[in-house]
Parts: sequence; C-alpha cells; structure tokens
Amino acid sequence: MTFAANDITPLIGARIETDKATLVSGGRAQEIRDLLERRGVLVFPKIDLTDEEQLAFARTLGEIVPQGEKGIYKVSLDTKVTPTADYLRGTVLWHFDGWADDVPARGSILSGRVLSPVGGQTEFANTYAAWDALPEEKKRAVESLKAFHTMEGTQRGVFTNPSDEMRADWARYPAKLHPLVWTHRSGRKSLLLGSSTDWIDGMDKEAGRALIAELQAWATQPQFVYRHEWQVGDMVIWDNCGSLHRVEPYPADSGWRMHRVTLVGEEPIA
Ligand SMILES: [Fe+2]
Repeated sequence: MTFAANDITPLIGARIETDKATLVSGGRAQEIRDLLERRGVLVFPKIDLTDEEQLAFARTLGEIVPQGEKGIYKVSLDTKVTPTADYLRGTVLWHFDGWADDVPARGSILSGRVLSPVGGQTEFANTYAAWDALPEEKKRAVESLKAFHTMEGTQRGVFTNPSDEMRADWARYPAKLHPLVWTHRSGRKSLLLGSSTDWIDGMDKEAGRALIAELQAWATQPQFVYRHEWQVGDMVIWDNCGSLHRVEPYPADSGWRMHRVTLVGEEPIA
C-alpha cells in the first residue's frame, strides 16, 4: 500500500504515486479529497485502472453522476463513439463543467485510453490561486459582480460563423446568473468564469465582455496552469469547483478517447 503525493508546481497540481488497491479500497479517500481541493488537479501516472476500478475508486470519493455507460462517459470528438461529440468542440476553450447548474459537479476523473499523435493534452488553471493573487483594488471592483452564462458563450469561440439553426439550438438553453467570485463554505474564494461567461449583469455588454476576457487572461497565466501530457493509463482528477480546464485541439478521427467519471456536486455556487 504505497501512497506519496508531491506538488507539481507551487500553485497547482499534485502527482500521486500509489497502487490500484490503495485507490479502490478508499483508505486514502479523505486525503485525496483534501488534496483535490488544495491542489486543483491530481495526477496518477500510469495507474492503468479498468472502467470498473475507476468507478470503484470514484465511489470512494463521492456520489457519481449517472452518465454514459454505467457511469463511464467516453470523451471523444468522434460522433460514432460519443453522440454528443459536437458540443465537445467547445472544450478547447477554458471552461468549468455544469455552468447551467446551481450545484456544479464536484470534479471529474479522467483516464487516458487512446491518444492523438497531435494535440489532446489537457490544461488546468487554479481559480482559487488566481483570485488570491488579484490586486486588492481589483478584488474590490469585481467581488460583488454577477455574470450570465450561456450555451452560446460556450460555442461562439469555436463556431465563429454559426447557422440560424445553431443559434436557435443554443437559445434553447436559458442563461444562468452566477456570482463572478464564488465564496465557498470553506471561506476560500475562487474566480468563477470560463467560456460560458457571456456578459456581466448591469454592465454594458461589450465592457462586461472586456472585463471577463481580462479576468480570464489573468486566471490562465502560466503560474496558475498545469498542462498534462498524457500517457495511456494516466488518470487525472480535477476540482471542477476551483479550476478551469481545456483540451488542446486534436483531430476528430485520431481516435483520441478518455473515459470520464464525474462526481456529483456538493456545494451550491454562492
Ligand atoms: Fe469540461
């Protein structure tokens, strides 16, 4: 039963050396949950879990979202593998999952199954660290703002010339208002923005979008970011409540495929 955790960079990421039995037994579950909140993303190099082991491990951390086949969602841009693949094109933009929810997913556990010869690496940005490092004056200026999140926001950056049909599809999803800064039950704060963040409540739309772009550029500076270069068998967990993620573009026909298990959210955005 080995277990060793080491920080990857000062502000984000921990690499965990352990074995399957330790993960599946749940013996380190609380420690892993604590590390996830503190470090934003946890990497288990070449741990090589099967779907069943990944699900068993996930259940030691919390309740899992019923999605895909028995809880395993295959992330792929190939519509033969994942019928909803077209929506996943937006995942090349910085985002968090579940912008339309009051209680977004706690996090997701991703296993690398098939890699692409080009692209397909995943990046994570720590939005707690980004908030903490903001100049005080900026914190005061943005801490009470609220922003509307939209489906159009998540798609506009990749479909720059959308058809009327696409626009109509995006408009089926109601806009969702969230605070720009999430004050967690722990007392810690994180910036809450991503591709879904479309405009700021009560602000001129263009001025609001400029502020969103400025804050997103701030939050995704290199010191807050970890880029994972996948090897088959790697497993990564990210804290969806305190980080952003994106995938580097990869060809849809490359076979790139990750198996994801998602943990049910535990805390309403506030
Ligand atoms: Fe995502």
